[in-house]
Amino acid sequence: MKILVKVPATTANLGPGFDALGLALNLWNETEFIAAEDRRIIVAIEGEGQGRLPTNAENLIVQTALQIYNLVKKPCTGLHIHCRNRIPIGSGLGSSSAALLTGMLGANALLGAPFTEEEILRLAIETEGHPDNVAPAMLGGLVASIVHDGRVISLKLPAKANRSPIHATVVLPDFDFPTVQARAILPKQVDRKDAIYNISRAVLVTEALRTGNLDLLGKAMSDMLHQPYRIPLIPGAQAAMEAARQAGAAAVALSGAGPSLIAFTAKQDPAIGIAMKRAFEQAGLSARIFELEPSYEGAEVTIV
Ligand code: HSE
Repeated sequence: MKILVKVPATTANLGPGFDALGLALNLWNETEFIAAEDRRIIVAIEGEGQGRLPTNAENLIVQTALQIYNLVKKPCTGLHIHCRNRIPIGSGLGSSSAALLTGMLGANALLGAPFTEEEILRLAIETEGHPDNVAPAMLGGLVASIVHDGRVISLKLPAKANRSPIHATVVLPDFDFPTVQARAILPKQVDRKDAIYNISRAVLVTEALRTGNLDLLGKAMSDMLHQPYRIPLIPGAQAAMEAARQAGAAAVALSGAGPSLIAFTAKQDPAIGIAMKRAFEQAGLSARIFELEPSYEGAEVTIV
């Protein structure tokens, strides 16, 4: 049996929605799983992460696939995995959440779906530690999450972009900024005024995306809880944000924990990505540009 799992990239936080908001983007990893009887686990990687990601038992897709086999107490008699990766790794575009979900969804399908999609989502969020990439990767679109009585509730919000796409330009500098480091540098406590600053804006970011109001998005998409600590550590990031606005972007934020930045516009405008890339280059970093749209579809599993 062959299973095809498709999982989209995601941008988390969206400025003020730290650890709560995330949006799926139309950049997909596609992974084939073949159940084998040869007792071997084989991983082949094409595209992003090729030659860099482990292809042995340390591979995140393998680990999370085996987690599912262990949970249902079934032996894995062999697994051949072929990854076609388009989501850059360590970028702030949810590559690790995509890998987590891919492994879980692939193994779940091979085992005849012992877990519901909701259960897989909960397992993936528990494994990742925060919901804001995993939930939109699974559900698609704009997703808000809360933790209630120790359980995550993730809700896909209606968004106008479903009908009239908002364009996203992501610029990824060649800079190593692991999420674990980007989280470790954040203060444990925040000022009340900073909390209010973010709470009020996070609500309006969702409203701006719901109605497609880019002027409102530009006013609401700023943050006091994580960006002021992270952006100074990424060479050229502050200048790239300013360059994006000057080139006409309505709103710009750190994508997830970075190092990539995401700028929103009504229509695709190559000048925005070029201006941001130039700012990173002036700080000594090469950078890649991704022209993307929100994806209102989430992860897909197909039995081929
Ligand atoms: N909300 C998380 C953070 C996203 O900003 O640390 C990381 O993927």
